[in-house]
Amino acid sequence: MPYDFIKKKKAGEKIAMVTAYSYYEALFADLAGIDGILVGDSLGMVVMGYKSTLPVTLNEIAHHLKAVLNAKPKSLVVADMPFLSYEVSKSEAVRNAGKMLKLGADAVKLEGGLEVVDKVEALIKAGIPVMGHVGLNPQRYLELGGYKLRGKKVDDALEIVESAKALEEAGAFSIVIEYTTAQVAEEITKLLKIPTICIGAGPWCDGQILVIYDLLGVNPEPPPFARRYSNLSEVVVNALKKYLDDVKKGSFPSEGEFWLMDENELKKFKEVISRKLGSGESKTS
Ligand code: KIV
Repeated sequence: MPYDFIKKKKAGEKIAMVTAYSYYEALFADLAGIDGILVGDSLGMVVMGYKSTLPVTLNEIAHHLKAVLNAKPKSLVVADMPFLSYEVSKSEAVRNAGKMLKLGADAVKLEGGLEVVDKVEALIKAGIPVMGHVGLNPQRYLELGGYKLRGKKVDDALEIVESAKALEEAGAFSIVIEYTTAQVAEEITKLLKIPTICIGAGPWCDGQILVIYDLLGVNPEPPPFARRYSNLSEVVVNALKKYLDDVKKGSFPSEGEFWLMDENELKKFKEVISRKLGSGESKTS
């Protein structure tokens, strides 16, 4: 439940979130005891191979949300609202976010600060829990001039703090702070009652989130703030190379990995085959 996140902040318990896009990723995250799963629009880049998150559609989020929910995770499941699914009008925002809740999401996340407060208020009024997202908003990378660190100058820092405050006042239950100077995230964390979940915004937050493929070492070019806890790309390529080698030299499949007909059935089978098709000797005869 979204409210549990606020209870964790009150209790001083750090919150650990990851993104997940598939059944097994959600299963693993849940087995590990992760507090929250975000079906992020980052799927556009790490699953679909798009150059940005802008092409991601609500249907794509819904598709991956269903896969994640099939793992029946105990952790909070948040569905990301993709570009243009909430900006146009409050009613469109409510309708689209409502679809994610109908599928089983516990909450939605949307990017933006002061400029989306009216949409956040409308969602809360409709009973849809909202996670905000300030600092670097990847959906606005064109307007921001790239994926740059935010909050380096006072004006920018203030805008981020004011946005976070306004989102809390609008009813958000927590806020992601992305790629922002650590002191700005610290200030927001101290100022707000709701938890801050940071990514590239330092250690003085109530929680952290990482894109699962960065954390597992799948992405060959992770962002500078992502820590690798595994080298899955190497593990996977090595496994595939071994499989390739085994197939080429004929050592896969071997005994125990294939099944034979019993003798009588085989005899009849061969007779029928040679009568009907005149086939020659087989490898098993
Ligand atoms: O889509 C995503 O993965 C995100 C995280 C980076 C917070 O929004």
